[in-house]
Amino acid sequence: MRLDKYIASCTGMTRKEIKKALKKVPAFVAGEKVSAPETQVDVKTKVVFMGEHLHYSEFTYILMNKAAGYVCTNREGRNPTVFTLLGDEIKAKDLFTVGRLDKDTTGLLIITNDGDFSHRMVHAKKHVDKTYFLTVDKIIPESAIEKFRSGVDIGDDEPTKPATLELLSDTSANLTISEGRFHQVKRMMEAVGCTVTSLKRLTMGPFSLDKSLAEGEYRLFNDEEMGWVNEKKA
Ligand code: URA
Repeated sequence: MRLDKYIASCTGMTRKEIKKALKKVPAFVAGEKVSAPETQVDVKTKVVFMGEHLHYSEFTYILMNKAAGYVCTNREGRNPTVFTLLGDEIKAKDLFTVGRLDKDTTGLLIITNDGDFSHRMVHAKKHVDKTYFLTVDKIIPESAIEKFRSGVDIGDDEPTKPATLELLSDTSANLTISEGRFHQVKRMMEAVGCTVTSLKRLTMGPFSLDKSLAEGEYRLFNDEEMGWVNEKKA
């Protein structure tokens, strides 16, 4: 593969930007300085570009701070989809969201075209913890902590799996759940007499919302995040 294509697939930069950058600072391909964008590199070769060790992946992994008003579906409809927030530099095909957030929910959303990775993150049996920051319309009863710890009836066949509620104020809390049922957080809060007024996902398994991203912004997975993807694959 050409060096500029390799770097583009790892960083999301355009080939033009890469060509310009390589003129200023060469990349290190297997320890050798390389400035020519057309240089052929093997995807298993260690490439260091602008001080970063790149990790080539055949798939694309995007970490987004979802904005309210966008839906997590690939079908075009009345509401704009989260994919409309992606810029032209994201050329990957067949992207989908890893699980879904409601239209009015903000925060951590992972977008990829790696079906295995997505399956590992959202499959009911995998118990990947997800933490949400929520605000509600009424004082959250302290009894909710124990109710959520032991499982609460939200109208499904089974009560919810044990969840952790951390009260932050009378009307705000962090809630960590390991399932991903439809409107789960909103229905759990309704079960203790509160209506959710705002909801933001903070974490999903080892992945956390990147505070440097404004709502609607995104970036490709960094080194550490790619490490978690590849660790599980090994
Ligand atoms: N639970 C909800 O109720 N909504 C979301 O968007 C995510 C979790």
